[in-house]
Order: sequence, then structure tokens, then C-alpha cells
Amino acid sequence: MVDIHAHLLPGIDDGAKNLQQALNMARLAVADGTRALVVTPHHLNGVYRNPADGVRGHCASLRAALRREGIDLAIFPGSECHLVPELPAALVAGSALTVADRGRAVLVELPVHHVPFGATEILEELIAMGLQPIIAHPERNAEVAASPDMLAEWVAMGCLGQITAQSCNGRFGPRVQQAAESMVRQGLVQIVASDAHRDSRRVPELSQGRVMLERWVGSAAACLMAEDFPRALVAGDPVETERLDNVRQPPRGAGIRGWLGRLRA
Ligand SMILES: [Fe+2]
Repeated sequence: MVDIHAHLLPGIDDGAKNLQQALNMARLAVADGTRALVVTPHHLNGVYRNPADGVRGHCASLRAALRREGIDLAIFPGSECHLVPELPAALVAGSALTVADRGRAVLVELPVHHVPFGATEILEELIAMGLQPIIAHPERNAEVAASPDMLAEWVAMGCLGQITAQSCNGRFGPRVQQAAESMVRQGLVQIVASDAHRDSRRVPELSQGRVMLERWVGSAAACLMAEDFPRALVAGDPVETERLDNVRQPPRGAGIRGWLGRLRA
């Protein structure tokens, strides 16, 4: 598997506290079946600023430490960029990082409770720049979870949705899990990632979330979300979302609704 969202770089945001914890997290990721991972420190969220050059340097240091320790995990630089009006300019200036530094997709984060005014316009601006925004954990934003039409609009514009693995298995509570299931079944998310912050609790594990995805939309769809699509993003290749639409199993109840509809017609 490939994980495009993890706070593994030590000491620069609320993720790994030190190198030892970062190495522990890397070992957990490998043990869970992850082979490549994008390190995504917070950027522009009002607390942390992690400009691109610094992240590239920290990533190179951690890569060297992984090699020293014999941990077989490929890591790539990235960032979790807060969706703020200055983000497009920061990307143009090269001070904010795209996914795996490929210049193709950008992982964007919303506030926890609401959707900021002008969010859709910022996403449109990023798309006009030739970038594909990836909405980080929409299931954990209260306003989006209550109004998934907003996410549907962003996905229709060309954005991707990234669900958190631990949201799928109930780690963030039943409401978040329900929102996750609904978004996955409706085809509003295309990627699963760990958003790991620690070597216990919020760990870099994808497999348990993947099991839930298999239950909700089938193993072929879960494979695309945990393997093929994240791998494409890390390689800088396009994500062929129609492949997911082709294999995703229909939403629960669609068959009954369709059958009732035909009866009424
Ligand atoms: Fe994150």
C-alpha cells in the first residue's frame, strides 16, 4: 500500500515528537504493508509553517535514518496545506509542497468544524493552475459531513476526496464512521490514507480501514483507494477515477429503490 498523508517528520508539527518516534512509525507502516509514504507536515494552518525547502531537507534526513536502520519504506516530501487564500500564491512561489513534490496534486486541509468562506473559489483557483486538490479527511469536518453535497460539488470540479483509515473503523467515533461510509458509498472519496501522528493510537496503519472499505464497496474498489490511486499520485501520474466508478459496488438500498421505482413507473 501507499500512504499519501502522514505526519512522520519529527519535531516540526504535531506529528512525530522525535526521530525515535518517527522510526517507530515507519516500522509500524511497513509491518502493516505500506511500502511508500508521503510525509505531510501541516502548513499555513495558523500554527505551523513548513516551507518546501525545509520539508525537503527533513525528508532527506529521515530517509537517511530509515536506510541506516534498515527500514524498507520509501518516503517522499509533501505537505498538508490549510485551505487559505494565500495557498495558490504559496504554490506558485514554490514555498508550499505538492504531493511527493510532483507539481500535480495538493493535499488541502479544512478547519475541523466549518468550511471557510471562499473555499470553493480557492479550489477553483488551484484547478485553474493545473493542480488537483485532494480534500483531506472530509468526513471529519462537521459542516461537510452534514452537507456532503459540498464535497460532491468539489469532486465534480475535479478534486479528490481522501478518507482517513481510522475514520472507517470507528476510531473517531460512530458519527465520523457513518459519514465516512456514506461518502465512500456515494463515490465522494477516492483515496484512503492514515493521517498518522504517533506510534500509538494515531498510527500509520491502512489495513484495518481497508477492510471496512472492502465491506462497503468491494475489494477491487478498496485496492484502487489504498494502492493504485495513491501510487499514481506519488508517481505524478493522473488518477483515473472512472476505474473506481466502474468497480464500486452500488450503494446499499439502490437495488430496492430501483425495484420500487420500476414498480411505480
Ligand atoms: Fe494530517
